[in-house]
Amino acid sequence: MINSYYNPVKTMESAGVFLQLPEVIKSMGSEKTRVLVIAWCEDVFAHEVFQKMGDYSVKKLVFTESNPTVEQLFQVYLETKEFSPEVVVAVGGGSIMDVAKSLCCMYEKEIADEDELRILIQEKKFGPPAVRWIGVPTTAGTGSEVTCWATIWDPKKDAKRSLENHDNYAYAALVDSDLTKNIPLKLAVSSALDAAAHAIESYWAKGTNLVSRAMALQAVSTIMENMGELLSGKAEAHEAMAQGSMLAGMAFSNTKTTACHSISYPLTMHYGIPHGVAVSMLLAPVLKMNAPVVDGMEELFHALHIKDAETLRKYIGYCLKQSGHPNSLKEWGVKREELSHLAELGMTKGRADNNPVELTQEKVLGILESIYEEANESYRSAI
Ligand SMILES: [Fe+2]
Repeated sequence: MINSYYNPVKTMESAGVFLQLPEVIKSMGSEKTRVLVIAWCEDVFAHEVFQKMGDYSVKKLVFTESNPTVEQLFQVYLETKEFSPEVVVAVGGGSIMDVAKSLCCMYEKEIADEDELRILIQEKKFGPPAVRWIGVPTTAGTGSEVTCWATIWDPKKDAKRSLENHDNYAYAALVDSDLTKNIPLKLAVSSALDAAAHAIESYWAKGTNLVSRAMALQAVSTIMENMGELLSGKAEAHEAMAQGSMLAGMAFSNTKTTACHSISYPLTMHYGIPHGVAVSMLLAPVLKMNAPVVDGMEELFHALHIKDAETLRKYIGYCLKQSGHPNSLKEWGVKREELSHLAELGMTKGRADNNPVELTQEKVLGILESIYEEANESYRSAI
C-alpha cells in the first residue's frame, strides 16, 4: 500500500489567532480587496479583528440555518453575487463552511434559479472555484475548515448532496479556541463527539494511511482525555477540543467517514437529531461490527481509553445525558416501524461503501434497532 496524504490548507491554531485574519488575506495577494464574511451570528462582527480590516471592502452576512438547503444556498448566492467577493471568510460551524465552499464554486457561473443550481450540484458540474475561502471554526467539531467537500441538503428530494472539488480546499484555517469557549455545553459536547467520530471513522476507513492514522489517534486521545473537563465546564478543555477537532479533520480530509456518518444523515434530516449526537449514538455498534476486521484496534482502544464497544456505548451515553441530549432513537421521536425506511436511506454513497465491513440494509437495520431504546442501566463517567 502506498501511504499517500495531501492537505494544502495553511492551518493556524492558537487562542486568539482570528486576529491574524488581515495578514492572512494580505498573503493571498494585494489585489484581493473584496472580502465576504459569512458568520453564524451577528455577534461575530463585534470581534476586534473587524477594526483591523480597513484595507478591505468587507461585506458582512449572517447565516443562521443548520444543514443548508439548495434553496438557502441560492438565496445567499443572489445576495452576494453583485458584490463579487475575491475572498470568502466563513466564521461558524460546518453549515457556514458548507455555504462558503459552495459559493466559491458558484460565482463564476450565471445560475438562473434554484432548479439550475440543483442540477449543477446533482450532476457535479462545478469546475475549479473562482474564489478562495478561509475557514474560522466556532464549534470545534466539524473539521470542515480542512476538508474540500461541502454538504448541501435537498429535503424536497429526500437527499443530501456532496459538492466535492479537490481545488476547493481553504486557503487557510484559523482555529481559535477563544471563539468556542462560550458555546453552550450541549453544542460543545455534540461537536466534540462528532470530531471523535471523524477520527475513529478515518482510522478504519478504506482509504486510511500512515499519516491520517497518526493524526486520528492523536485526535481521539486528545478529545477523550479532555471530555471530562469539557463536561465539567472547564474553559481549558476548549483549546484541547479545537486541536482534536482540527487533527480529526486533517485525518478524515483524506479518508472520508464511514458507516456512522452514512447511517446518521437521515436521522438528522428527518428527526432533527443534531449531527454530532446522531453520529456518536452509532459509534459503539459500528465499532462492534468493524473491530474484528480492522488492523491496529489495540492502538485505537488505547487512544479511546476504553476496552470494548460496550464500554464506549456506556461512556457516550453518559456524555450525551450529562450534556442534556436524549440517548435513544425512541426519545428522539423515531417510530419503530420507520426503522426499515431509515435503514434504506442510511446507505449513503461514498460513506457506506467506505466502511471496512460491507454494509447491507439488514446490518444497518440491526444497528438502528440496537440504539432504538435506552438500556436500563446507570451510566459511567469513568473511562
Ligand atoms: Fe461529522
